Amino acid sequence: MPIFYHEQAREFHLCNETLSYIIYALPNGHLGQLYYGKRLRDRESFAHLMGNGCRPVASTPIKEYPYFSLEFSMQEYPCFGSTDYRQPAFELIQENGSHINDFRLTGHKIYGGKPEMKGLPHSYTEDDSEATTLELTLQDPLTQVELTLYYTIFEGVGVIARSARFRNGGSQTLRLERAMSLSVDFPNHDFEWVQFSGAWGRERAPKVRPLEMGVTAVESMRGHSSPHQNPFVILKRPNAGENSGEVYGFSLVYSGNFLAQAEVDTYDVTRFTMGINPRQFCWKLTPGETFQTPEALMTYSTAGMNGMSQSLHKLLQTRVARGYWRDRPRPVLLNNWEATGMEFTEESVLNIAKKGAEVGVELFVLDDGWFGKRTEFSGLGDWFVDKSKLPNGVKGLADKVNALGMEFGIWIEPEMVNEDSELFRAHPEYVLCTPDRRKSLGRNQLVLDFSNPEVVDYIYNLLVKAFDGANLAYIKWDMNRSITECYSTHWPADQQGEVYHRFILGVYSLYEKLIAKYPKLLFESCASGGARFDAGMLYYAPQAWCSDDTDAIERVKIQYGSSYGYPVSSWGSHVSECPNQQTGRTTPLSTRANVAYFGAFGYEMDLNTLDEEEIALVKKQVAFMKANRQLIQFGTFYRLEDPYKGNRGAWMVVSPDKREAIVGVYKLLNGVNTADLPCIRLQGLDESMDYRINGGATARGGDELMSVGLLPLDASTQPMAGVYGMEQQPDLAGDFASCLFHLTAASPSC
Ligand code: DGJ
Repeated sequence: MPIFYHEQAREFHLCNETLSYIIYALPNGHLGQLYYGKRLRDRESFAHLMGNGCRPVASTPIKEYPYFSLEFSMQEYPCFGSTDYRQPAFELIQENGSHINDFRLTGHKIYGGKPEMKGLPHSYTEDDSEATTLELTLQDPLTQVELTLYYTIFEGVGVIARSARFRNGGSQTLRLERAMSLSVDFPNHDFEWVQFSGAWGRERAPKVRPLEMGVTAVESMRGHSSPHQNPFVILKRPNAGENSGEVYGFSLVYSGNFLAQAEVDTYDVTRFTMGINPRQFCWKLTPGETFQTPEALMTYSTAGMNGMSQSLHKLLQTRVARGYWRDRPRPVLLNNWEATGMEFTEESVLNIAKKGAEVGVELFVLDDGWFGKRTEFSGLGDWFVDKSKLPNGVKGLADKVNALGMEFGIWIEPEMVNEDSELFRAHPEYVLCTPDRRKSLGRNQLVLDFSNPEVVDYIYNLLVKAFDGANLAYIKWDMNRSITECYSTHWPADQQGEVYHRFILGVYSLYEKLIAKYPKLLFESCASGGARFDAGMLYYAPQAWCSDDTDAIERVKIQYGSSYGYPVSSWGSHVSECPNQQTGRTTPLSTRANVAYFGAFGYEMDLNTLDEEEIALVKKQVAFMKANRQLIQFGTFYRLEDPYKGNRGAWMVVSPDKREAIVGVYKLLNGVNTADLPCIRLQGLDESMDYRINGGATARGGDELMSVGLLPLDASTQPMAGVYGMEQQPDLAGDFASCLFHLTAASPSC
């Protein structure tokens, strides 16, 4: 049983093979924390781990316990105002304006499996033996509000899922102004904080800094998780590296405004909290009503950053992502966006699709521009086909693509509208905007009020009608601007603080409706590239367009940064034309593919522009991906060399039985007579096994490949030609050069 309850000590010990997490009841009935870290053997009580409860000039909440102060106690879900002055986990305001709460432990439940969270994305179990859940119930005697804290600890993976639920069991109407998904106190601040930051076109770059006294935070107030900051943060010990040391990961399963912060107090205690951003958040909690926070995942590893990422990847891939495509290798796709923009005809896109069929592409995706009177300024929201472009409707084009032997997919941006659209003219009240004030535009568009279920239904009906009869296999769901003037005419004044959250609940509900209607559809989420790349989205769309920056060298970095929190199968990554449309850079076609293989692979160009030799290479690339996508997308991923730090990036995937691995090595800029390390030290192999490299005659020991490394020009390596007929030399000469190494177990001693 991975959750122990020790009645005498009033302690709860959650543990699996990796970690322990220990909670106990404080003298005032609130919840305290004793430990979060490497697994400990269970014992009747860990009370001796309790820190010093009091210090000079402390405020004390209970007369009978003069040495007890919340300020100096490690807590589980702290509130502000009764002797704790740090960042609270929640703020609940009473009708008289008081914000003081006194939640005391009243009961608990421990059971196998994990409860559903209706309307919100969440991790799940398929069998009760996969995880154990602890529900802790607390009550505030004055307001009669019940607070339930949920903890699910998974077997076989170092992850605990957490959330909180408030139920107003009293007679007052309350205001919930903060409701974080998790709060953890650590007894020291011996951590480096790692966040994933950027902007459009350069998403999820790791930024590392030591935690210091005070508050360190990242947030989004854009209505989506954003490219600027990601709702995934790491606290690592300063001595932890990629492959060893203590690392804590925190991932919010949510796609809206968020806050992740660490507060180090003057006694070096670190409080980490994560959840919906409390700014502009205020939920009216009427008697009988409940509020459920989104879920947050806590991941712990002693095997460094790679160990932490691998646990999280496994959970996100298998117990957050759902449905038909969860475990299936992803189709090789061809998207027309960079080839045509919005200017196309049925004939021109079929011409592109045909070339795709010729090289072995499995799915053709028609991007933006197929509906309404679509231009840069108009048509969004009018989800009926533009007959001047597709005279035979979506179905007509889908049938023709199917006849070429490919599946058909389509682009939508359901949350948005142009002022110049039939939808806006008919329903100006359907947009988010502040009464009597100017509406800010983003990409010439407004945001629909998805906090209003009527708007969600309206869009759903339009989409279903437009797709009528078409054999759809895939939807790319885009979202191209942040929210401004967040106000809904659907909700009264005292519920405007709910609109940001209700908006994202509306997005989730449209996903649910579409998934229910088309259960085999593959969804790819997108938001001007990777502006809504979060664990919440993976519940609906198992893959996400990583970035609008399709330059291979930029993508080495973006995908490397994404790998800390998200699995390879979730990174939408395509080969695009050169010079690249975002950077103007020309990279070898082989490098473009060598980068894009690591992800949900595809092409984003008109393949008709390639010459015969290039087409021959593209055919080999498609064949390579089909043969290896199970390993690449679902194998165990290791970061090897950080492209943000040096002039080379490298990563690899290893099969579960360790008999096969693929290594990708990427040279950024070439130097002359440089000191670049020639050897790439591999990870995750079987030390006792020998491996052939690209089918070469001699084999290298797994121990040697991990301790010494792989020399790209090693005589034992063969050109990939040996295996796939590719004329790719294992040679890193030249700017933007790259190579792949395919390792296969050889019988010992060859
Ligand atoms: C932004 C996306 O990231 C692109 O891939 C493309 O779909 C455009 N939107 C279409 O407007």
